[in-house]
Amino acid sequence: MSKKKNMAIDFQDNMILLTRKYLKRKIMCPETKFRHHVNERLHVMNLVKRTVEIGESNSVLLVGPRGSGKTTLVNSVLKELSALKSFKDNAIIVNLHGLVHTDDRLALKDLTRQMQLENVVEDKVFGTFAENLSFLLDCLKSGDKHRSKPVIFILDEFDLFCEHHNQTLLYNLFDVAQSAQVPICVVGISCRLDVMELLEKRVKSRFSHRQIFLFPGDTSSSEQPMSAFDDRLELFRDLLSLPDDENVNKVEQQYDDCTIDPQFGSMWNDYIKSLTTNVTMVNLLKRMYHIDVSERSFRNFLAVAVSTLSEKHQKLEVNDFVEASKIFSQDDKLLILEGLSILEMCLIIAMKQETEIYDGEPLNFEAIYNRYMKFANQNSSVQSVQKPVIMKAFEHIKNLEILLPIGNTNTKFEKEYQYYKFTLTSQQVIEAVKNYSGLPTEVSQWASSSI
Ligand SMILES: Nc1ncnc2c1ncn2[C@@H]1O[C@H](COP(=O)(O)OP(=O)(O)O)[C@@H](O)[C@H]1O
Ligand SMILES: [Mg+2]
Repeated sequence: MSKKKNMAIDFQDNMILLTRKYLKRKIMCPETKFRHHVNERLHVMNLVKRTVEIGESNSVLLVGPRGSGKTTLVNSVLKELSALKSFKDNAIIVNLHGLVHTDDRLALKDLTRQMQLENVVEDKVFGTFAENLSFLLDCLKSGDKHRSKPVIFILDEFDLFCEHHNQTLLYNLFDVAQSAQVPICVVGISCRLDVMELLEKRVKSRFSHRQIFLFPGDTSSSEQPMSAFDDRLELFRDLLSLPDDENVNKVEQQYDDCTIDPQFGSMWNDYIKSLTTNVTMVNLLKRMYHIDVSERSFRNFLAVAVSTLSEKHQKLEVNDFVEASKIFSQDDKLLILEGLSILEMCLIIAMKQETEIYDGEPLNFEAIYNRYMKFANQNSSVQSVQKPVIMKAFEHIKNLEILLPIGNTNTKFEKEYQYYKFTLTSQQVIEAVKNYSGLPTEVSQWASSSI
């Protein structure tokens, strides 16, 4: 092979490895680019900044459902601020987590460590928690009483700290913040909307009552309103894109050891963009989105796909995503269906067809029974079973909550006529039929026949 050709191959290989490294980091470090919730983020940012810059004390609770990005928001704020020298040299960040620091002694111990005051505290004996904490905070004062190092306390899973004996830690932190003895900012993170109610009266009275709410799917901050799925598609493109010339400088600062050739980057990005219009790809993403909206698992899924890149595999094919999705889009309902009997599968198919014909309207046993019997009579190979057996199979499906009763179940309605909503999509049924090994051919043909 000529030398020139060799070099070209080396370059290409190298680019792929860099790409993999760069993309993995981008996908797994969401705090480098926090999306949406612009105002909420700005609010947190300003509070923390004020503590560090003008020595103001603050307390705030960041509240929102799991996976709405609260922890990521706070991390992204701290990451951005840490790039400022004045912040990095001055502020102390203490990270506490409700699941780790299960009582105040543990929290205090770790807090001491994170403030790098273990040596100072070593053999001191304190009467109370408050004395201990105030000693720690006093240590941060550098001679001059008004020039004390600002401390940012992050309390993740904040509601769990409310269960600690007497809420001593919370009481003391809020007390310090309120009395502004030293500049501290207490940021609590919680998924409980009623978190304020968990605070004891004396603790609550010391809290600023400042709450910031994060609700998922708030894409309003982007210029054009987007549907939730479009947003996901956009995230897909964004997370898999490489820097091309325009933002290369910015990126180099963040990932200084990953300098990607802009031309290579722009070709790569064009390809990724083309994936977002590929029907198979979009359908896969849609299906995954319907099963699990959480961004966390979506990112994990992308990371798996990206990790298939290597010198030998230089392009992300649609099929790589399909393979990666198999780990993540485990549909619980499909797993349940794998355990059904053939008769039960037949009823499921009947339910799918009934639902399709009547456009999602509720169904009852009689309708399913008739539909099934019609199929059984037309196919001599299907063993005929008696009505009570079919009823039993029907009830089993109901007990798996694949059917949800509509209206009052206590009425005098005979159970054959009780109406149910069928909770599976046609797609799921087709999938289940495909996965079911040993299903008679007639049955699978019946399942895919259109009406
Ligand atoms: N606005 C966002 N920007 C970037 N990543 C986000 C955002 N919202 C959620 N995520 C992603 O979702 C995952 C869960 O977010 P996290 O901050 O842990 O949620 P919470 O703390 O509210 O339970 C994170 O790993 C992150 O990848
Ligand atoms: Mg969290």
